Order: sequence, then C-alpha cells, then structure tokens
Amino acid sequence: MNPTLRKPLIAGNWKMYKTVREAVETARELVQFTAAVNVDVMIAPPFTALAPVADVVKGTSIALGAQNLFWKNEGAYTGEISPVMLSDIGCQYAIIGHSERRQYFGDTDESVNAKIRAALEHQLIPVFCVGETETQREAKETFSVLDKQVTKGLEGFSSESLSRLLVIAYEPVWAIGTGKTATTDQVQEVHAFLRSLVEKRFDNLLAKSVRILYGGSVKPDNVTEIMNMPDVDGALVGGASLSAKVFNSIIHFHH
Ligand code: 13P
Repeated sequence: MNPTLRKPLIAGNWKMYKTVREAVETARELVQFTAAVNVDVMIAPPFTALAPVADVVKGTSIALGAQNLFWKNEGAYTGEISPVMLSDIGCQYAIIGHSERRQYFGDTDESVNAKIRAALEHQLIPVFCVGETETQREAKETFSVLDKQVTKGLEGFSSESLSRLLVIAYEPVWAIGTGKTATTDQVQEVHAFLRSLVEKRFDNLLAKSVRILYGGSVKPDNVTEIMNMPDVDGALVGGASLSAKVFNSIIHFHH
C-alpha cells in the first residue's frame, strides 16, 4: 500500500444477508466505531436495505455501495435497479462483476463493461471485480484470465474517464467464503500484474492511482499482512463484514 498516492478502501459486501432492521442496526454500530477513521470505508447492503442504511450513514465517514446495477436509466426491465435510482438514494459505489454474479446470474465481460460505463455516467465509483477459479489457477491460466477480464471489462474507456473513479477488486474465486486466503506473495504478484496491465492498456498515471483491493476470506487476523503488500490498496470483505465489531477491527488494521 502506498498511502501517499492511494487512500486505502475497506469495503464490506453484505451479499444476500440482513433484513432492514439488522442492516440498520449494524450500520449504526459501525458509525459509532468509525467516527475518526483514516481510511475510506464502504458498505454494500442488499437492495432492500440501501435507502434505510443511507439515512444512517449520511454525513458520516461511511460510504454506501450497491452490489450490482443494470445499465439502463429506466425502462421495462422487471427486477432490475438502475444507476439513477442508486445515485438518487446516495450510493457512491457499485460493486460490478462479482464472481457470484458471473457464476449464478449470467454477468459476462460484456455486461460488466456496460455496467461500468453506466456507473461512471452517474458518478458511481465502480468496484470492478476480477478473479480466477481454482481450476484456472491450477492450469496456470490466472494471468490470461485476468488479462481478458480487465481488457474486456474496461474496453472503450479513456484513461481520463477512469482516473478519479476506478477501483479494481481481485477476488480469487477459490478464496471466497472458503476460509482459504491467497498467500501474501500470491496477492502481491497478481496485484502487481493488474497494475502493470492498467499501465499497458492505459497509462502510468492511471496505473499509479487505481486502487486495487483484495477480497477472499479477509479477517481481522490476516488483514494487516495483506494490507502491507505494496500493491494492495484495500480489502473487499464478505463474511467478516457482517458483524460491526469484526468489520471494525479490519478497518482498524495496523499500518
Ligand atoms: P468472503 O470475505 O466471505 O470470503 O467474501 C469475499 C467476497 O466475495 C467479497 O466480495
């Protein structure tokens, strides 16, 4: 992590957990814990809890994120949520292309690209997720898989359009919810690769400013060593973000 260039971002992806009451309760607790925090913090509750949680975190150091969006502003798209609706209730981030969406809900590199474009158009910061499966890693395809995901996901954007806004999250699929964390060497190796890829596809300035988060079984007891890797600028936390207490100790990792 290089805090002079990139402010760390610790993000909690609540996935399909928590009723409105539970979400509001957790958000209230978090607000108390994080009054004077020196990293960026984001939580992404399920859609039903977004607006009530927005009220809780308004004016605090906690930012609000959505877990997904559709790329149209409005229309006959039953079941979908638009970037306009998300901006309207105070969302600042949108997680896009999470492996669970790619795996279960048909997200592709092409739809991810459209979603990133829609997010940027509405001043939502895309947290663009990439990652290889266990089979792909074993077949030594990690770098080619990531190259394809990044290249297609960011196709057609200029460096300027991404400069203020882009966050990439590296989430090896085999480390999500499994308790298996990638080793710090594996994480650093991939993060350095992703940064060099951004430099190759765009430029050095964007490569230096893009925040690259690690996600996959991040816990209070492994966050510090992960965050200490030079190319890790934050964490995208699933299970361990559901408890305000546990998530708070991740947020307060030792620099
Ligand atoms: P876990 O932290 O539960 O492994 O989930 C990671 C993740 O998918 C965050 O988006």
